[in-house]
Amino acid sequence: MKNDLYIRALKGEIVERPPVWMMRQAGRYLPEFQEIKAKYDFFTRCQTPELASEITVQPIRRYGMDAAILFSDILVIPQAMNIEVQMKPNFGPYLPKPIRSQKDVDNVIVPDVSVALDYVMQAIKATKELLNDEVPLIGFAGSPWTILCYCVQGQGSKNFDIAKEFCFTNPFAAHQLLQKITDTTIAYLKAKVKAGVDAVQIFDSWGGMLSPTDYQEFSWQYINQIIEALKDETYVVAFGKGCWFALPEMARSNASAIGIDWTCSARNARYLTGGNVTLQGNFDPARLFSPPADIKKMVTQMINEFGKDKYIVNLGHGILPNIPLDNAKAFIDAVKEYK
Ligand code: CP3
Repeated sequence: MKNDLYIRALKGEIVERPPVWMMRQAGRYLPEFQEIKAKYDFFTRCQTPELASEITVQPIRRYGMDAAILFSDILVIPQAMNIEVQMKPNFGPYLPKPIRSQKDVDNVIVPDVSVALDYVMQAIKATKELLNDEVPLIGFAGSPWTILCYCVQGQGSKNFDIAKEFCFTNPFAAHQLLQKITDTTIAYLKAKVKAGVDAVQIFDSWGGMLSPTDYQEFSWQYINQIIEALKDETYVVAFGKGCWFALPEMARSNASAIGIDWTCSARNARYLTGGNVTLQGNFDPARLFSPPADIKKMVTQMINEFGKDKYIVNLGHGILPNIPLDNAKAFIDAVKEYK
């Protein structure tokens, strides 16, 4: 690997400067992505290795981040499990037959991922060729809890109230569903590693919807199963949005790094994780609206606060669609210029 900064940070090695990439960096704000988006619908882009690999390398070509993340979506998992998922333009994910009963859970399958998600493996192989060992490739999956949120709610939500109601009124069925998603995700991530990804990240985007106690029961124990199943095969990064309360527990796990959102200070994140774990984050995505010169100052300060070692510079959540190109550039450049 010509640029292995990201891997070295995951190993906790001393580095000249921290590596940088941006969550959801493939897509949205990039004009070259919009061109492809205008021609092909969402799942066609995910399922066509030539398109997925091209979209994956677009941000690397433009900005030279230290890692690429495969263009795909967390919702290809429920799709492979026999749950219909649509991506509606200007609306987001829509699942016309949400899971609401034990019978619905019984109908969910644990698929042979090497068949159902072979297109993802082909996309990984095509991307590895395009990347030509310049930078590592990150594979990812949603956490079982976050996937359950969409499967039960049927669409995005501010509070995922229906998903929580299902868990608290029918915990037996909820845990069965979570276990099926976990088993599928483990097989999926193992196949991704075999296909060539250099690390994997688990996105628990909606973990922060749960109380600390419920987080242990409905989210963390399943994420930890995934970490334990993958830890000997690759680096696992766990990112939970709104989950600062679980940082001590996460730091005790075998994850190689922990993602931090922007509501937690660097100092508190280091304190809660014991100071010895690689952390990733946590620039407020909306702060990319500030003028480029201010972004650079804030990024430098963020690195000083986290420390340059055992640290991966990132946003605290995905990049927003309407961020100006020069502002994204300022974010990446500030890290590369860090002394
Ligand atoms: O860096 C990347 O963009 C890599 C690819 C990627 C996508 N989705 C592409 C995508 C990744 C890593 C994801 C993860 C994802 N998907 C998450 C977890 C991360 C997070 O942001 O919390 C979640 C919750 C989803 C579910 C999802 N997919 C939503 C809510 C939406 C609609 C709103 C939006 O634009 O994010 C999607 C669609 C989606 N996934 C798009 C892209 C580029 C936009 C739709 C399109 O391109 O047609």
